[in-house]
Amino acid sequence: MRLFLDTANIDHIRHGVQLGVITGVTTNPSLVSKEGKVDYKRLVQEICSIVPGPVSTEVLSQDVAGMVAEARQIAAWAENVVVKIPASLEGVEATHQLAREGIRVNFTLCFSVNQALLAAAAGATFVSPFVGRLDDIGENGMRLVGDIVEVFKKYPDSIKTQVIAASIRHPHHCVQAAEAGAQIATVPHQVLIQMIRHPLTDIGVSRFMEDWRKVMGEGKNT
Ligand code: G3P
Repeated sequence: MRLFLDTANIDHIRHGVQLGVITGVTTNPSLVSKEGKVDYKRLVQEICSIVPGPVSTEVLSQDVAGMVAEARQIAAWAENVVVKIPASLEGVEATHQLAREGIRVNFTLCFSVNQALLAAAAGATFVSPFVGRLDDIGENGMRLVGDIVEVFKKYPDSIKTQVIAASIRHPHHCVQAAEAGAQIATVPHQVLIQMIRHPLTDIGVSRFMEDWRKVMGEGKNT
């Protein structure tokens, strides 16, 4: 499973890329707004220059013509930009048009297998089931990820759409997304940090250092 960062924060993106484990970024209007009043195009272009892989950027229009026009503009901003289109009927039609033009779409705000099937049929490159938001209303978000993966697997010749587990809220979601077979999990920076943390690792490192110091003093082993 590949890891994307779910943020528009440049410092966090630089950090994730520097760690060598982040190969893409997903943003949305809420995440961009968190960065204050910014020049949207310049921000996306900067993110695209830092990240080696796909950078998803959402359209704001809700009608087909508006979404397609916006998507065409966004697609010209950088080679690795991917356009996020919401899971509506208009979104399906826009995705179909954009896919025919070779513009990559991340079909977002997906909350059902049917929405994911339409994303695939329309030619979306990615579909993003929102795990945490389903959990929030008492449903099982990760089950949806698993269901979409299983259904897509039955049609390996016709469905090439990749599943991005999105709205990830905690490190266990990452484990579950990998177990469910998602090709990608897009994670907040905080969750990325939490993924490496384990109290027994911290205790283990201090114990090793303590034992070493008791016998060898402060010197290193070189
Ligand atoms: O990737 C989608 C994500 O940004 C939504 O997350 O936590 O707002 O549901 P959340």
